[in-house]
Amino acid sequence: MSKQFDVLVIGGGPGGYVAAIRAAQLGFKVACCESNPYADPKGEPRLGGTCLNVGCIPSKALLHTSHLFAEAAHGFAAQGISVGAPKIDVPTMVGRKNGIVTQLTGGIKGLFKKNKVTLLAGHGAFVGPAQNGGWQVKVGEEVVEAAQVVVATGSKARHLPGVPVDNLMVCDNVGALDLGAVPKRLAIIGAGVIGLEMGSVWRRLGAEVTILEALPDFLSVADVDVAKEAAKVFAKQGLQIHLGVSIGEVKVGKKGVSVAYTDKAGAACKLDADRLIVSVGRIPNTDGLNAEAVGLKLDDRGRIEVDGHCRTNLPGVWAVGDVVFGPMLAHKAMEEAVMVAERMAGQAGHCNFDTIPWVLYTSPEIAWVGKTEQELKAAGVAYKVGKIPFMANGRALGMGETSGFVKMLADTESDRILGVHVIGANASELISEAVVAMEFGAASEDLARICHAHPTLSEVMHEAALACDKRPLHF
Ligand code: FAD
Ligand code: NAI
Repeated sequence: MSKQFDVLVIGGGPGGYVAAIRAAQLGFKVACCESNPYADPKGEPRLGGTCLNVGCIPSKALLHTSHLFAEAAHGFAAQGISVGAPKIDVPTMVGRKNGIVTQLTGGIKGLFKKNKVTLLAGHGAFVGPAQNGGWQVKVGEEVVEAAQVVVATGSKARHLPGVPVDNLMVCDNVGALDLGAVPKRLAIIGAGVIGLEMGSVWRRLGAEVTILEALPDFLSVADVDVAKEAAKVFAKQGLQIHLGVSIGEVKVGKKGVSVAYTDKAGAACKLDADRLIVSVGRIPNTDGLNAEAVGLKLDDRGRIEVDGHCRTNLPGVWAVGDVVFGPMLAHKAMEEAVMVAERMAGQAGHCNFDTIPWVLYTSPEIAWVGKTEQELKAAGVAYKVGKIPFMANGRALGMGETSGFVKMLADTESDRILGVHVIGANASELISEAVVAMEFGAASEDLARICHAHPTLSEVMHEAALACDKRPLHF
């Protein structure tokens, strides 16, 4: 007789492991299967998916090390500290990053034990409806049955035709996090989130970094002012970004890579580099799920089709995270996971897709929530703007982190906050205040009337709120 569960989660990334834990907390008998591309040296599955193994966590570890390196090289002197030219030991940096990954992925296994979630090592594929309701799913060689199934199979790097990724010379996110030495010349295709974060890491450590981007506008997902400021700062840091290019033939030799491309004026160009990173977006993972055979509907972009509560077209089958619509972000996957587990338990789980923050962990950091100015214009919404530079903040001056600003957009009539955009030190943490405010339907006046500790960077948020009413106190 097959193993029986109330809930089977397919995939052990942030969407999957959180769905499993929350469902177990709510009293379900839960299993989570993981196909195991990130096996540990003993062949045991590592949980945490893309995020913990080859995404959020390792990239932030490298960003931190490279930030310290850049500070030692370029920031210390202005504060009277001389240490000579710093040297980077890349294997130690990468080893530290790997240690963090091991610690955190092991931690999720501990959480599974604590919450009595059964971990099944193996690829999950639908077999069909179970006789007594629910679904049969093949996990590795065994068939298990579950009343409800949560698909959380995530995404994988999109590759370009004719540009095979070996993760040595030509890397996607996996190899980009594991280079053995600082390349002298690094080429990157795609000036999106990964291109900018990984470009920053290797640029800070001394690589000549050139990023080739197909779109004519830089960082067009961000607010237009933020994108402009970011382009200026990154150029100053030495990131060479060419927009509006069209990639041609990529030749890979033993010593390097050569990328032929057409620039925005139509001229034929060639970029020679020691390594190439391809970061042109990610595609949902539905390979081998047997989705078609059981009638699980995909949308025109290959994502599993779901409603606003992450229900698929099949009864008792849910899908969350990168494999469904919306931004491919770990915290979005986790929110959906909690919502689904609570809905399965008959509760009113809910996910507010309008208040999911975005963060780019560059230097300075970039973060936003809600609408951009260009989106409000396009929608014909009347809005007011409060914009305050970090240069006007005492704490930012003390830290030597004065670039950037906070820009708040509020509805002209109601004063309700519609979007907040931050480029500056600790933007990743500062944005939480805006998320809370927007979740509570706050007006800019609400933030303006809240006491903010002095001296802190959060005072820039406070001043931006005051500036929405044209009454900033320190600018
Ligand atoms: P995944 O994390 O991809 O997990 C899916 C899991 O399912 C994987 O472990 C996979 O092996 C498994 N699986 C797939 N198919 C099957 C199957 N059929 N059976 C069993 N198991 C299966 N997001 C942020 O919010 N902040 C960041 O700073 C950030 N940085 C990133 C940096 C990089 C370099 C990358 C690549 C991504 C980053 N992301 C970041 C995005 C984030 O990693 C993803 O949004 C998040 O991991 C999605 O979670 P998920 O559970 O949907 O999928
Ligand atoms: P992305 O979608 O952020 O950027 C891809 C870029 O490549 C785009 O600017 C696109 O125009 C460009 N591009 C596409 N095809 C191209 C081509 N043929 N030639 C040149 N340029 C081309 O995708 P990226 O950077 O691969 O990251 C994938 C996802 O991972 C992100 O969208 C995000 O969801 C997640 N992520 C999140 C992070 C964070 O939250 N800090 C960090 C890293 C990744």
